[in-house]
Amino acid sequence: MLPDGSTEHMLRLFSILEFMKQKMRLGIIGGGLMGREAASAFGRWFVLENFPVQAELVAVCDLQDKLLEWFKQVPTVKLLTKDHQELLRSPDVDVVYVAVPHNLHEKLYLDVLNSGKDLLAEKPFGIDLNASKTIHEAVRKSGRFVRCSSEFPFLPGAQRAMQYVHSGKIGRIMEIRSGFWHASDMDPNKAVNWKRQNKTNGEIGVMGDLGMHVVHVPFRMGWKPLRVYAQLQKVYTQRPDGKGGMAPCDTWDNAMLHTEVLINNEEVPMRLEMKRLAPGEMNTWFIEVLGTEGGVRFSTKDPKTLWIFERGKEQIWQKIDLGYQMPFQTITGGIFEVGFPDCFLQMWAAYAAERAGELGTRFGCATPEEAVLSHELFAAALESHTQKKVVSLARA
Ligand SMILES: NC(=O)c1ccc[n+]([C@@H]2O[C@H](COP(=O)([O-])OP(=O)(O)OC[C@H]3O[C@@H](n4cnc5c(N)ncnc54)[C@H](O)[C@@H]3O)[C@@H](O)[C@H]2O)c1
Repeated sequence: MLPDGSTEHMLRLFSILEFMKQKMRLGIIGGGLMGREAASAFGRWFVLENFPVQAELVAVCDLQDKLLEWFKQVPTVKLLTKDHQELLRSPDVDVVYVAVPHNLHEKLYLDVLNSGKDLLAEKPFGIDLNASKTIHEAVRKSGRFVRCSSEFPFLPGAQRAMQYVHSGKIGRIMEIRSGFWHASDMDPNKAVNWKRQNKTNGEIGVMGDLGMHVVHVPFRMGWKPLRVYAQLQKVYTQRPDGKGGMAPCDTWDNAMLHTEVLINNEEVPMRLEMKRLAPGEMNTWFIEVLGTEGGVRFSTKDPKTLWIFERGKEQIWQKIDLGYQMPFQTITGGIFEVGFPDCFLQMWAAYAAERAGELGTRFGCATPEEAVLSHELFAAALESHTQKKVVSLARA
């Protein structure tokens, strides 16, 4: 018998608790940029403190040998395959993360649901509105737990911005801006890839690529556009094909969606910005909400800073230094810095917690309904741009 409170006693208790945790055994389809990012999140799952679910990556499917080879480093992976149906037949997989080009979303998401497994789907949740509706209907019929990827709202700055708006200190909201900017396409010599062609990325272009990230927080705050006027731009119409020639690059590079949302029976302008050609912006996600009494601003450009506005005798923007305050507690010190892998892990923690019924009041991943709503907005934006008119979004 070990004395209560001794180190050995605590360790034994800890291992019993670990054993009792629900296991989430994962399969990845698409082991490219995001598939490997997900593997990294599962690989350091143990940093989550007092977390009710254990995650284990057990199977990976990709078409490329070099990527399958890469996943051999992960000791828990038992199945490596080029056939996604083989992964879906595996009784060892509970949840599947699908991170493939957009033209494959619909087929693969439906295959996952038909196999009876849960899904974390990458955005944009189908290549277009029709695909997203078909997937949504299949989700509804299957009863499986499905969420769509969008990780930036899990950053401390984004969480604090939402808390600030909920606090009511902002007064009457006058204006909202939400955006995601990239600069890498500023280089005209960057080779074309599937994200830069309509047939694989979708006609919605940059909106499919960056849009879910931009609408997740506004939608969750209840700010759903009543109408949209869209300005879409194609700047480079061809790019090097990587084989010495040129290839068509027909996607929209930049999108500015001017919308209005209803807040307390007042129409409020909300601008949504998605850009692949934003000079000097590596990977800048931001949200800004301005009100009559206060305001809040957060950008990953300055990831440790939250700006809060206060209208007093003087008009003051206060700068708050942020630490590592995440929705799901980890072993990382509260004064340390956050980064992309951290918010991606938090998103997965939210997925696992919600699936296990343990999310509580914490922020959850984007839902299939929010993903379909984003597609309704993007489809309306395409129509708006083509016809140069404001397009209404029907609201029940
Ligand atoms: N959440 C984010 O921050 C974020 C960032 C980048 C991309 N994405 C999204 O993730 C998804 C994938 O993007 P990526 O950047 O990882 O692309 P990627 O090109 O790096 O990876 C895609 C992988 O899918 C594999 N693949 C293609 N067809 C397949 C099939 N039939 N079966 C199995 N594997 C197949 C390819 O070999 C490739 O390795 C897209 O939906 C994209 O929009 C999300």
